[in-house]
Amino acid sequence: METKIQEIRKNIILELKSAENLQDIEKIKTNILGRKGELTLLLRQLGSLSSEERPKLGKLLHQHKKEIELILQKKMIEMGKTEKEKKLKEEGIDISLPGKIFDRGTMHPINLILKEIEDVFLGLGFKIEEGPEIELDYYNFEALNIPKDHPARDDQDSFFVNNEVLLRTHTSPVEIRVMEKQQPPIRIIATGKCYRRDSTDSTHSPMFHQIEGLAVDKNITFGDLKGVLTVFVQRIFGKDRKVRFRPGFFPFTEPSAEVDVSCLLCKGRGCRSCGYTGWLEIMGAGVTDPAVFNMVGYDPEIYSGFAFGMGAERIAMLKYGISDIRLFFENDLRFLKQF
Ligand code: PHE
Repeated sequence: METKIQEIRKNIILELKSAENLQDIEKIKTNILGRKGELTLLLRQLGSLSSEERPKLGKLLHQHKKEIELILQKKMIEMGKTEKEKKLKEEGIDISLPGKIFDRGTMHPINLILKEIEDVFLGLGFKIEEGPEIELDYYNFEALNIPKDHPARDDQDSFFVNNEVLLRTHTSPVEIRVMEKQQPPIRIIATGKCYRRDSTDSTHSPMFHQIEGLAVDKNITFGDLKGVLTVFVQRIFGKDRKVRFRPGFFPFTEPSAEVDVSCLLCKGRGCRSCGYTGWLEIMGAGVTDPAVFNMVGYDPEIYSGFAFGMGAERIAMLKYGISDIRLFFENDLRFLKQF
């Protein structure tokens, strides 16, 4: 038995030398110390020895077992370290390799202008709201004082889904949705897509974006509207721009106005781009009609308000000098990359 043990030990040393990884060592360990391992089998034979031999050999076997376990353990630790180092080396970053070049996108000019406009109004204490693009006739027309037989509906050839549902033709329905849910004071901005059955040309697109504004409180006047929109125009177009309010008509505001900004190109003197008027129209606005307040249950004797709505594409075209609205939707990278 003693010689057998010596033999096992010698073999272990040899086998360990050729072990290449932790698995190899594990295998060697099972071959010796596992349930059917060589050493385990020797230990089992102890029972069949005479009572004189047993204690002596038993002690010897257990001593060897301990030593073998130690040898294996030491080897495993060593091997573990080497494997880890090898892995680290393999996973290491070669900082001398050339870098990857990622194509970076840019903000779409419409998103850019929407964000810029929102920022101006956020700074003036307005909050951002939104509403659905697929809208009920009630919110798009009815509640805005545009009844079914009203001639104003002719202005907005719409995409109807059915009798009661359509793609919103402006962002004004968001005004109603907000007023139904909140009590004054209200100062909100709502931006988003709108749809009209216009045929496409350099200034019309069946889908476009609007920015809506609404303020409701006690004692709000047309003067507040003028003040807010003048700040807006000068922040977006520059301090030297002038604002003009022309009488206009919208069923949901009274009085109503068309808002013009002085032409950037000719500085108001008159040129081709402003039709020799010196002014460019940028939005519709007005003092909220009491009929609208009645629809949402606000008392028009207590509250007053103003509202405005503008086309994002138009603002972006004027600000960035873009002459064709279709450029926004063609996704030509040569155009988009300039923003
Ligand atoms: N909704 C109007 C339009 O689309 C613009 C507008 C909004 C006018 C708010 C007055 C007040 O033309």
